Amino acid sequence: MHKTDFLIVGSGIAGLSLALKLSHYGKVIVLTKTSPDEANTKYAQGGVAAVMDNENDSFEKHIQDTLIAGDGLCHEDIVRIVVSEGPDRIRELIEWGASFSLNDKGELDLVKEGGHSDKRIIHAADYTGKEIENTLLQRVKENPNILLFDHYFAIEILTQHHLGRYVHKGTPNITCYGVFALNKQTEKVEKILSKITVMATGGCGNVYASTTNPKIATGDGIAMVFRANGRIANMEFVQFHPTALYHPGHMSPAFLISEAVRGHGAILRNHEGEAFMQKYDPRKDLAPRDIVARAIDQEMKKHGKEYMYLDATQISPEEIKIAFPTIYQHCLSVGIDMRKEWIPVVPAMHYICGGILVDEHGKTSIHNLYACGECACTGLHGANRLASNSLLEALVFAHRICEHVKNDFKTIPILENIPDWNDSGTTYPEEWILIAQNFKEVQNLMSSYVGIVRNDLRLERTLRRLDLIYKETEEFYKKTKVSVELCELRNIITCAFLITKSAKLRKESRGLHYTTDFSYKNQDYLYDTIL
Ligand code: FAD
Ligand code: SIN
Repeated sequence: MHKTDFLIVGSGIAGLSLALKLSHYGKVIVLTKTSPDEANTKYAQGGVAAVMDNENDSFEKHIQDTLIAGDGLCHEDIVRIVVSEGPDRIRELIEWGASFSLNDKGELDLVKEGGHSDKRIIHAADYTGKEIENTLLQRVKENPNILLFDHYFAIEILTQHHLGRYVHKGTPNITCYGVFALNKQTEKVEKILSKITVMATGGCGNVYASTTNPKIATGDGIAMVFRANGRIANMEFVQFHPTALYHPGHMSPAFLISEAVRGHGAILRNHEGEAFMQKYDPRKDLAPRDIVARAIDQEMKKHGKEYMYLDATQISPEEIKIAFPTIYQHCLSVGIDMRKEWIPVVPAMHYICGGILVDEHGKTSIHNLYACGECACTGLHGANRLASNSLLEALVFAHRICEHVKNDFKTIPILENIPDWNDSGTTYPEEWILIAQNFKEVQNLMSSYVGIVRNDLRLERTLRRLDLIYKETEEFYKKTKVSVELCELRNIITCAFLITKSAKLRKESRGLHYTTDFSYKNQDYLYDTIL
């Protein structure tokens, strides 16, 4: 058993930046399911959006761009908070040691991405996430108030349910006391008790067969909160990045070709060489992501092709090497010289706009439980996230959580009478094939039926199939010793259910949710889908 003031699950930008802040006020434990740096954060390429040293830019322009991308569902108060607090959080990141690309004048080099009306993306060439993750980890490792437990897998949130009380969605005052986590080295489940617990568990890309997300992104935090009867919102808004590298046999994780490449002038072309984006949107290749991904999907279907092309040959070879060293090298490693050849690209699941419902302080519907980063639904993204607003949101909300809990946490008791994990009567799994097979089945179902274009018939079919897989997996879970693989399977089933159910509830097309059954934007659906 461990006891701590603050327990943070996740060591990406959200978890680590919050840990550094909370460490000024109490003892912090950070759990991470594999190695400390393995997180979506490490793979971020394009950068962080914020209004910094560009005198043509303004908070109002960034706010409007975010609201336009969000297609009517952003919470404007949250957008204003994130945009206006963002620059201070970037300065803090720089003070912690993050080093971003500079221009000839020695100022931050700001670039443009889809949906942005001005240059405001702060970046470290095309490895922004790695720079941020490494910097934060370095600071965390030096900090005596933070314990980083790697290869610890959080299984479930402790609530009154663990004291034998019946808890359901409507139960008032559901309270979080910490988590049960599997120590992967000892294979024992440990109880970690805390005054304040924070989910910073990232996204759920692996619900789909092709994703830009690393293997760790299985929606664990979202699923744990849902199972603990907390509120989850807007899961139908799944963002497919328009340009993942088409590389048969390497669908997951799919290598990302950053939107910043289009920001530097690259153009999407079909197999006839036509620059097709002008047919779909006046902003052409720099339209918001939902529009570009749908346009690619439509061109692929129209021409019966498995991919489209991204033509970056008009960017100078010198600029490519300076701005996109990672992408350039990766393309070369698979035989594509992006200075001279078009890159084959295809949309892939990239980001979940919905997640654990939180208020403006990052507080969930469960007492003493907070959430930030990709697993949270703050209201910033609405129906579609604006490029590079995710890292920004994680930093701003980590700060806000710290400000909210730093004074009051001391009076929260640690509940020591929660019984230990009980696995009597369970055995080691013999049917490993069930886990692998059901995992694949969920991914294929979701990719085939709940992708970029949806309809009710397919959603209903998916829900029926998911129900069977769910029942079979739960049966297996009850009699089997806990393992990471089985827990991740349960979590992706839960996230798949949340995405499909939410999609079914929204009887309109809006932002990232596009259905052939309902027309574009119905004023009656101007609200969040909450489950
Ligand atoms: P993550 O960085 O994903 O961290 C999640 C952490 O939770 C990990 O440490 C993981 O081990 C831990 N965890 C999860 N489940 C458990 C569990 N059960 N037990 C213990 N630990 C657990 N956004 C931008 O704003 N700009 C970009 O340029 C950009 N580029 C991107 C490029 C790629 C290829 C990808 C995949 C995403 C990109 N994004 C970008 C999105 C952005 O990177 C993520 O949304 C963001 O990094 C999420 O940060 P996070 O801290 O919430 O989660
Ligand atoms: C990219 O570099 O295209 C990813 C940016 C993002 O996901 O915000």
